[in-house]
Amino acid sequence: MARRTICRFAANGFDSTLRAPSGVPPFVYTEQDQRVTTQADPHVEFEDIAKSYDGRVMAVQGLNLSVRRGEFLSLLGPSGSGKTTCLMMLAGFETPTAGAIRIAGRSVHALPPRKRGIGMVFQDYALFPHMTVEDNLAFPLDVRGIGRDRRGELVDRALKLVRLEGFEKRRPGQLSGGQQQRVAIARALVFEPELVLMDEPLGALDRHLREELQYEIRRIHRTLGVTIVYVTHDQQEAMVMSDRIAVLRDGMVEQVAAPEALYEEPERSFVARFIGENNRLHGRVATVDGDVCDVKVGAQVVRGYRVVDCRPGDPVTLSIRPERITLHPEPGVFSNQFDAVIEHITFVGDHLRIHMETCGRADFVAKISNVVGQGAVLEGDEIRVGWTAADCRVLDYGGAEGAV
Ligand SMILES: Nc1ncnc2c1ncn2[C@@H]1O[C@H](COP(=O)(O)OP(=O)(O)OP(=O)(O)O)[C@@H](O)[C@H]1O
Ligand SMILES: [Mg+2]
Repeated sequence: MARRTICRFAANGFDSTLRAPSGVPPFVYTEQDQRVTTQADPHVEFEDIAKSYDGRVMAVQGLNLSVRRGEFLSLLGPSGSGKTTCLMMLAGFETPTAGAIRIAGRSVHALPPRKRGIGMVFQDYALFPHMTVEDNLAFPLDVRGIGRDRRGELVDRALKLVRLEGFEKRRPGQLSGGQQQRVAIARALVFEPELVLMDEPLGALDRHLREELQYEIRRIHRTLGVTIVYVTHDQQEAMVMSDRIAVLRDGMVEQVAAPEALYEEPERSFVARFIGENNRLHGRVATVDGDVCDVKVGAQVVRGYRVVDCRPGDPVTLSIRPERITLHPEPGVFSNQFDAVIEHITFVGDHLRIHMETCGRADFVAKISNVVGQGAVLEGDEIRVGWTAADCRVLDYGGAEGAV
């Protein structure tokens, strides 16, 4: 897999040090035959998966998704979008209503959960409270009939991996939340699975612990090279941890891509809205010329990069990231230049958020770096703002405004 470009992300305030390669091998071509080697083979495949719990409402539908061996793939979506249902079907705790799931090329339809070789971590730790840490870790080994002779070695290795050596004799009640989740992670890894599923594993932790464990999970992923399917509804968590993210909505995949691509090149208005911040303008297509599209937004015509297939008259949504807005552009530099009134300025330390009214929207935001000479505006100022057509994506209308 091609690794991602990092510069724009660093510029957008994301920590570029988090972008270190995760150990996922790139597609490898042998010189002799130019074939892709097994390193790029899918580890997990969902094929035309549908799931209904009650025979009426579809919790998941039309799911086609392939997870590469060694990949860190996140399922990201709002509550009820079907994330847990996907994991449960993969783990074998739920049966698909239609379609096939394959692990390492083999259908797992008839395999019970414990025979699928999958480690699982849940949000609520799910540790046995009456057992010591050591016994909690030994449990998956016993279930799988792994002999007592290997037990000590495997438990020690798993505890070392999560940096909890010396905690063997404690019970979960004698551990902090973060430590309990480390034990849960160790328990998922102790029998050395090649595939690990994590369902909102950090959801119950405070922000500081979350960030610490995000780092730990990424380190473990790199160290072991296991395949991880990770569920979260936190887009920032998905962005910093994943090789690729599948964005789910109402049980369907909206887009699957690397974090940078999702941010820079959303293909659907839902994805643009869900990943990072954006300004949205609604209008109707005036003209289409190849990839360029003029859209009538109120009294203005805004030029954008056409992503959706559209014709004159179609309703569309334009999406522009706040950091791509330029204040006081030189005349004629951008294809989009409009009058704006500064409503409100928020100081956020490394950047300023300039709230303004433009193109008929009162909630337009520009993000300006806090460096000398930038953001020289005051509340109430009437200024010009501009952005390129390339930074203005013409997407599907996406329905009514509101929270995702
Ligand atoms: N056991 C169940 N019986 C009936 N319906 C269910 C069951 N589990 C989930 N659902 C329904 O299936 C849909 C998808 O639920 P799921 O738990 O997969 O969502 P999710 O994306 O994990 O949400 P959350 O972020 O809240 O955990 C929802 O509409 C939910 O109400
Ligand atoms: Mg869930």
